[in-house]
Amino acid sequence: MKLISGTANNPLAKGIADVLDIPLTSVDIERFRDQEIFARINENVRGEDIFLIQPTSAPANDHLMELLILIDALRRASAKRITAVIPYFGYARQDRKTGGRTPISAKLVANLICKAGADRVLTVDLHAGQIQGFFDIPTDNLFGQPVFIADIKEQFSKSDRKSLLFVSPDTGGVVRTRAIAKEFNADIAIVDKRRPKAGESEVMNIIGDVAGRNCILYDDIIDSGGTLCNAAKALKDHGASSVSAYITHGVLSDPAVERITNSELTELVITNTIAQPQKVKDCDKIRECSTATLLGEAIRRIANDESVSKLFV
Ligand code: R5P
Repeated sequence: MKLISGTANNPLAKGIADVLDIPLTSVDIERFRDQEIFARINENVRGEDIFLIQPTSAPANDHLMELLILIDALRRASAKRITAVIPYFGYARQDRKTGGRTPISAKLVANLICKAGADRVLTVDLHAGQIQGFFDIPTDNLFGQPVFIADIKEQFSKSDRKSLLFVSPDTGGVVRTRAIAKEFNADIAIVDKRRPKAGESEVMNIIGDVAGRNCILYDDIIDSGGTLCNAAKALKDHGASSVSAYITHGVLSDPAVERITNSELTELVITNTIAQPQKVKDCDKIRECSTATLLGEAIRRIANDESVSKLFV
């Protein structure tokens, strides 16, 4: 087995390498003057089981292209099997036609990854589970939930956990929220969100009684922070004692960090599926939990033909 990292998230790749006690294979990734990407694998990979780690986070197109080029290089170097480890799968939100004459870009990106020569995909908290079906190759979609459950158990004492209320920031996340609430025997509430236009969100109603409760907003993606910060304000306006958030993928496009800093949120906890800039690391309200052990264990199981779903029972 060999582990290879693109440039999108080297700290996570190193974390996975540490968990598996395998060094990262040396690669050179360079740019020509016109910004074309060039990649060279510096070790023999003939007949090897390759795990290539590269989330397609911002800049999404550059990271995607780098992933495709690395897959091509590995395939032409006679790797036996290539697993694209894509901890955050960008373009996932474009998973259906939103109007006439619009693309389904998530499907297009999945086609590109398959066509480039990937044999498997390993990812975390796909925006919608059915995106697995966009890939015509085996796709393991890991749940980030166990990472967050462990953290919540550390942060909240047993007695404090009794007042927890898990909140879905929109109707699309109800199933996910119910699943984490079940782990704590807790209730859920739902924010009825409307998007008047792309990139803007508006809270219409709150479904459930949030007064006096310690609310945990739970979602897969925080992008501009509008959904989350509006939901936090609405929960506070309805009498919540405190509001914190657990969100798997910290996309955190501007002005998310400023919004979170000035929001009603006590804390935002994200995972390290996306490498964060200094600005995020410096924000006192944002904390990161690692997925390296989860991904490392999944990789070990795939390499040994063991069950991956058993990780979640
Ligand atoms: C939407 O369905 C997602 O789960 C997130 O709620 C959304 O992408 C967050 O976007 P933003 O932070 O820009 O409101």
